[in-house]
Amino acid sequence: MNGEFIPAERGVISVRTHGFAYGTGCFEGIRGYWNEEKQEVYLFRLREHYERLLRSCKILRIALPYSVDDLVRMSIELVQRNEQKEDVYLRPVAYKGDEVIGVRLHNLHDHYILTSEPMGNYVEIGGLRCNISSWRRIDDNAIPARAKIIGSYVNAAFAKTEAMQNGFDEAIMLTSEGHVSEGSAENIFVLINGELVTPPPSENILLGITRDTVIKLSQREFGLITRERQIDRTELYVADEVFL
Ligand SMILES: Cc1ncc(COP(=O)(O)O)c(C=O)c1O
Repeated sequence: MNGEFIPAERGVISVRTHGFAYGTGCFEGIRGYWNEEKQEVYLFRLREHYERLLRSCKILRIALPYSVDDLVRMSIELVQRNEQKEDVYLRPVAYKGDEVIGVRLHNLHDHYILTSEPMGNYVEIGGLRCNISSWRRIDDNAIPARAKIIGSYVNAAFAKTEAMQNGFDEAIMLTSEGHVSEGSAENIFVLINGELVTPPPSENILLGITRDTVIKLSQREFGLITRERQIDRTELYVADEVFL
């Protein structure tokens, strides 16, 4: 917490914290995979996660006193100190830490928290039943999706709960213009007529690191170039495969 390693029970914030009251913060979700053979946790594309965190910070006018290298180092040290020998989830959060009333981004102090906890699969990996959400993905000119902003996850929460209460596993969200955007917390790919397609950054998506990995792996392993283009809702109905 703010550069200090402390026991989790001491990692508390005030009820008046700006980032809590107004959602003025951003975060990352970083997976670590335990390798039984090597007896090591492999943290997935740490640098890219912290590069994205610092981009989110730029949008939110948060200036952390850390470089990507510092953030990477702290993450590795935290997992080592916790002696975690299982799959983990790291959650760095950069937020406005002042205990003041008044919504804004300027003249506030920036705080940083990183936690690491055991976590398995986020969703079932054997196939998901998805609905097209009645909630639209929040627009770049409202809350930019490219920044992983705490407050914007209310949009995803509406979609996820609607999907689950209607008997589905996950929601697919459309943009306000009605094009396919992404899942509540996953980017989407469509295989249609032998072509792998995914929405471009301008469709209000979070630019996922898994998305980038899929684009690179599908080219390297299958020679398949991913096309980034607008996707109509009904293309999902006629696609050969859809995956999140
Ligand atoms: C809205 C949203 N889209 C996509 C993703 C996938 O991003 P990544 O592949 O970087 O984990 C996430 C991850 O939490 C997300 O919250």
